[in-house]
Amino acid sequence: MERTIVGRATDLPPGKHLGIMLGNRPVCVANVDGEFVAFRDSCPHQGARLSTGTVGGTMLPSDPHSYQYGLEGCVVRCPWHGWEFDMRTGESLFDRGRRRIAHYEVQVEDGNIVLVH
Ligand code: FES
Repeated sequence: MERTIVGRATDLPPGKHLGIMLGNRPVCVANVDGEFVAFRDSCPHQGARLSTGTVGGTMLPSDPHSYQYGLEGCVVRCPWHGWEFDMRTGESLFDRGRRRIAHYEVQVEDGNIVLVH
């Protein structure tokens, strides 16, 4: 396993995400409410860079005529066709259980964000 420092934790506050290159692999690093996560920066639909998408919440499954918004700050929305992914798990909210983005282990050491890959 390799370890790569990708930046200072203080440079990526909660709600922010950042696209980097890990060799020839695009990776998105995000701060989800104080928890650092990293995932492949390529949408499984047609390959858009998720790091250029927006972070927010989504409409949750709910009863008819009931609208429930949730997961604020946990969802990245693909900039091309709007597929949404839970950044904490990589799971697609559009096609749960069938599509997901690969995740990387992230650690914080001495104030640095470290990717384990
Ligand atoms: S490329 Fe991401 S939803 Fe189409």
